[in-house]
Amino acid sequence: MSIISKDISKAVAILNAEELVAIPTETVYGLAGNIFSEKAINSIFATKQRPLFNPLIVHIPSVEYLNEIVEYIPKKAQLLADAFWPGPITLVLKKKSIIPDLITAGKDTVAVRIPNHPTTLELLKSLDFPLAAPSANPFSSISPTSAEHVNTYFKDKIKMVLDGGPCTSGIESTIIGFENDEPIVYRLGSTSIEAIEDVVGKVEVKNKKEIAPDAPGMLERHYAPKTKTILTDNIEESLTQYKGKDIGVISFKSVIKADEIIIQKALSESGDLVEAASKLYDALHQLDKMQLDVIIAEKFPDYGLGKSINDRLERATK
Ligand code: TXA
Ligand code: MG
Repeated sequence: MSIISKDISKAVAILNAEELVAIPTETVYGLAGNIFSEKAINSIFATKQRPLFNPLIVHIPSVEYLNEIVEYIPKKAQLLADAFWPGPITLVLKKKSIIPDLITAGKDTVAVRIPNHPTTLELLKSLDFPLAAPSANPFSSISPTSAEHVNTYFKDKIKMVLDGGPCTSGIESTIIGFENDEPIVYRLGSTSIEAIEDVVGKVEVKNKKEIAPDAPGMLERHYAPKTKTILTDNIEESLTQYKGKDIGVISFKSVIKADEIIIQKALSESGDLVEAASKLYDALHQLDKMQLDVIIAEKFPDYGLGKSINDRLERATK
């Protein structure tokens, strides 16, 4: 039975004993273990039922630490690290041999970031090793954005959830790799393309599995509720289509009136995409518990974090 606790020293003791702790980050909760412990890394894969071909993100305490684990830092990678860390950007760089192949699924690159959460930054600074941490959910289900979400998945499987409150960004980090030293976005996430382009100029986005073999985690069905979910430009039309069914609605700003709507989440009544992103997964978790026939989600505007929200909603519909 796992405990939910704010006690960092307890988390340190469990991690030093090569066991797992779920940790808070600004994006989603991660299922963390010592990157140098084969036992811990194997239990991350086993607990999540994650295929071994899908590599893990390494969480480090400082920008300086990057030199310990990667061979080479392209200029634009350094610019991004300096601009956004600690924060929701993951850089995929050529790894040093110190990084175990189990972490990277045999690839010669490693994904790395500094999370922006005071509790986890303190934790990382108290440890002698970085933490591998995929999102703390079973493979392909909705990522957790609170300690309670983690516990509904893993309460019998891990010893501790380090409680850092609800995640403030609420969507995973944006993942950026480098081809000929130029940044390529492999996964849309909590740092918008516009913010990235302000720092390094135009970037290419290769966010689909078929064109991003370098990001094996970008499966079509991912972040998915068990309830049938559809994404629509026109909520009224979809409501007519599912007339007589138990319907849940996720919308951006507006509250929609209709008798067949059992529950509705307007993610930001003031129209703030950052607020909407932070509430998306909690809304999906809540609606998915309600035995609905269908979740109807409204398409978000195609800019800023709206792009990342649409990406997750599209994967939820597969
Ligand atoms: O916000 C986040 O990134 C969260 C928090 C906990 O930090 N972590 C997270 O991890 O979302 P995970 O494992 O759920 O997603 C990591 C993604 C996977 O799609 C994986 O395939 C990709 O990163 N990845 C990891 N290492 C890679 C590498 N060397 N090359 C390309 N993609 C990589
Ligand atoms: Mg994940």
